[in-house]
Amino acid sequence: MNQPLSPSTFPPGFLWGTAIGSHQSEGNNHASDWWYRETQPDSRIAERCGDAIDSYHRWPEDLDLAAGAGFTDYRFGIEWSRIEPADGQVSRAALAHYRRIVEGAVARGLRPMVTLHHFTLPLWFAAEGGWQRADAEERFLRYVDALAPVLEAGVNRVETINEPNIVACLPQLEQNGGDLSAGLPVPDEKLTQIMIAVHRATVERLRARHPHLEVGWGVSVQDYQAEPGAEAATDAYAEPRDQVFLRAAKGDDFVGVQTYTRGRIDPAGRAVAPDPAAQHTMTGWEFYPHALGGAVRRAARVVGDTPLIVTENGVATADDADRVRYTTGALRSLRAAMDDGADVRGYFHWSLLDNWEWGQWGPTFGLVAVDRTTFARTPKPSLSWLGALAPAKS
Ligand code: BGC
Repeated sequence: MNQPLSPSTFPPGFLWGTAIGSHQSEGNNHASDWWYRETQPDSRIAERCGDAIDSYHRWPEDLDLAAGAGFTDYRFGIEWSRIEPADGQVSRAALAHYRRIVEGAVARGLRPMVTLHHFTLPLWFAAEGGWQRADAEERFLRYVDALAPVLEAGVNRVETINEPNIVACLPQLEQNGGDLSAGLPVPDEKLTQIMIAVHRATVERLRARHPHLEVGWGVSVQDYQAEPGAEAATDAYAEPRDQVFLRAAKGDDFVGVQTYTRGRIDPAGRAVAPDPAAQHTMTGWEFYPHALGGAVRRAARVVGDTPLIVTENGVATADDADRVRYTTGALRSLRAAMDDGADVRGYFHWSLLDNWEWGQWGPTFGLVAVDRTTFARTPKPSLSWLGALAPAKS
């Protein structure tokens, strides 16, 4: 467990990637609900996304950085509001844009995984009720159908929805200003069922039209740890927050696990506040690298035979040595979970670049720093360190 990490730590063919989201990096997604919200005079969004890190134009440089460091896989987002800026109006230019990114990734030896929905919605869709609309599933599938030229350009894997369990909490998180100090709220039951139905319909549609794709979704999974006597309470706590979403993905080609920290649960089923003396990250979460192994072990128990991919893991820190320390611990705990039987097929680090963290610019998750005025990218030592651990490509 304490052996140095090396390219043989994980098996040949293990996916080795970085992850990035569309809205957090592209910039100027004028037709999205988050853009609308951030530009309102009474907006509760503290810091605007604005130009983000201009990845909409600088994606070739971003791909160069990932491929040049040694990564073999690249997870990025497609922004629905760019593909369909108005109801039923598909932008051929936007399709061509994402197609070029896929082709650019393949040309550099990177296998593309695309995310179809990562928190942002087209404003026209959100304005009429968002996921609660009667036609939500039909509208989403129409968008998925429109993506055919992108998906056929060399995409290997699709994450349908990023963190559906967080999507189902968004109404509550918007009310409390995103405060997670008392733990994750219980996801809205109706939204939970909508997310599951939309995902199932999307998997079916993609399998029918693009049988070469591996399809799954990425669930936010914390390492929930039971305080003494709290085993049953912890299971009950986890059930609506992530397990119902993991179970709904059984039988998919993979289930994405996205983990950052742990949560300790007491016998009354409440999240215990982290020890104030513990190290905390720039997002205020406990610095707890081994969360990844714990989350993967629990996810594996829930999904049974369905393979897992770590589709996000990382840390917000201004100290890159801490990023290496965190990721070392996370990867060791992941390897140990695999040794104990978890079927994990890959690891994507969040994030390739420092980017907009949903209302804040402060927390930096990137392996690469970005100057917000010039958009110049400067690799941190962690980029080459992590890239050099890439397992052999099969
Ligand atoms: C999200 C990312 C976010 C990251 C760190 C995940 O919840 O998918 O968009 O930046 O965690 O907070």
